[in-house]
Amino acid sequence: MDLALYYPGKGYYSGGMQKFGEQGDFITAPETSDLFGYCLARQCAQILNGENDVLEFGAGSGILATQVLFELGRLEKLPNKYYILELSAELKHRQKETITKVLPELLDRVVWLNTFPDDFSGVVIANEVLDAMPAKRLIKKQDNFVELGVDCQNDQLQWQMFDHPYTDGKVLLPNEVEQGYTTEVNLRAMAWVESLSDIVDQGLVLLIDYGMGRDEYFHPQRGEGTLRCYYQHKAGDDPFMHVGEQDITTSVNFSDMADQAQSSGFSIAGYATQAMFLISLGIDEYLLAETDENRRITLAQQIKQLVLPSAMGESFKVLALTKKCQVKLKGFKEQDLRHKL
Ligand SMILES: C[S@@+](CC[C@H](N)C(=O)[O-])C[C@H]1O[C@@H](n2cnc3c(N)ncnc32)[C@H](O)[C@@H]1O
Repeated sequence: MDLALYYPGKGYYSGGMQKFGEQGDFITAPETSDLFGYCLARQCAQILNGENDVLEFGAGSGILATQVLFELGRLEKLPNKYYILELSAELKHRQKETITKVLPELLDRVVWLNTFPDDFSGVVIANEVLDAMPAKRLIKKQDNFVELGVDCQNDQLQWQMFDHPYTDGKVLLPNEVEQGYTTEVNLRAMAWVESLSDIVDQGLVLLIDYGMGRDEYFHPQRGEGTLRCYYQHKAGDDPFMHVGEQDITTSVNFSDMADQAQSSGFSIAGYATQAMFLISLGIDEYLLAETDENRRITLAQQIKQLVLPSAMGESFKVLALTKKCQVKLKGFKEQDLRHKL
């Protein structure tokens, strides 16, 4: 997964493919509607005080950065700096192009980083980043889980079971599942949360992704795991096809993220569906304020895409982590699902 997505120049994210949007392989929430970033900005505005910053991980095409900055400008809550940490050189270039085109007047506030800053205060945003971190795939064999690696036979990539049980005290795995039950664990994502805790002095981290709590993640009926591939808007489950040309992702186990966050020193400040997070932040107000009839119809369609359960509304969740922050977050006003973690 790591090589297929990030091998320099050849991986899915490091190569020159289109990826996002209608011409690409999948559409993320900010690619769907500006209202996504505007609502996020409303949440950021509660924390930003004129002296602290925003740090966005994996900024994709750069569109979310433009939405958040635009709305923060309208709210007179611009961050001191808007940092972007992106692994892909090609995407960094694209992000710069997007911001230069949409918000040239704010370009000087945007700073691209190659590594984590030494310390940070403000708001960290990661939309659909955890799901793009390379996960490990495990399969139940007799009394244990065993890792599935990748082998190459006759020039063909294929799954290859390790010959020893998988042991890692860090993650909880389900006990009562059948032989052959397959699932994923994402130690990289957990290590990333831990590293984040080392640098965040004060503020809020918003992790937005498709995923669920542990009980649902390890539901007996989810026996094939959560690994999915996206190629030209079609979902598949064969990561050995179109290697480097298709996206490979796994759902986020938000209980693992929350446990890791808490043991690293964060407080869990909220957990909600994307739908309820956006509704709590008043996404409907943008629709009501729109006076142009055609534009209103377009916005209504976009909102449906973001909030309907059959679209992105319930499969995507928002997990909020805080440090030294007593603010009651507006995004969780209407729903708080922390008990499901
Ligand atoms: C599915 S895309 C999401 C893009 C964007 N956030 C959006 O919502 O449109 C995943 C992004 O995460 C980036 N990424 C993955 N792991 C990362 C990491 N450890 N640090 C920073 N960026 C990462 C990828 O390069 C890619 O830009």
